[in-house]
Amino acid sequence: MGGKEKGRGEGISRRRFLTFTLGGTGAFLASVALYPMVRFSADPSLKREEERASFVDVGPVDQFDETYKLVRFFVKRKDGWHHPEKGVERTAWVRRSATGEILALSPVCKHLNCTVKWQGNPRYKNEFYCPCHGGRYDENGVNIPGTPPAAPLDRYETKVENGRLYLGNIVPRRKG
Ligand code: FES
Repeated sequence: MGGKEKGRGEGISRRRFLTFTLGGTGAFLASVALYPMVRFSADPSLKREEERASFVDVGPVDQFDETYKLVRFFVKRKDGWHHPEKGVERTAWVRRSATGEILALSPVCKHLNCTVKWQGNPRYKNEFYCPCHGGRYDENGVNIPGTPPAAPLDRYETKVENGRLYLGNIVPRRKG
């Protein structure tokens, strides 16, 4: 009889143990998911700071002209669990028109993510070329029909402040 009571007592404590463990895990997961929302709603200036931080100074705007130039820069961003000290490397093809309009394009091909190059194939002047499967884009980064890519190259958000060019987030463009 004493053994029976002992067994029931163990059952209750096991149930309690499971309740605490599962409840604790659920609360932890919920707090991880809600943390960014709570953080930004509690302090909107943090969100503004993150937005500002997403723009990177890539140099004087007058270094750019109508010929595309490849720019390398680093963004302070977590790459999964990896948090490189210098930041994550990004590249962009940048040009500035005669009227001062900036176009900054991602070099990542929209077919299977190879790297495109401005005038990368001597057969196709004034085009971006992807060597992997012969993908081609016109001088505005718009995919040329009949070649593998199905969408234009993504572009970076840009802004000019005090004579310097800043690049921001990558924005996909509509399919051509
Ligand atoms: S990855 Fe560029 S054409 Fe296929």
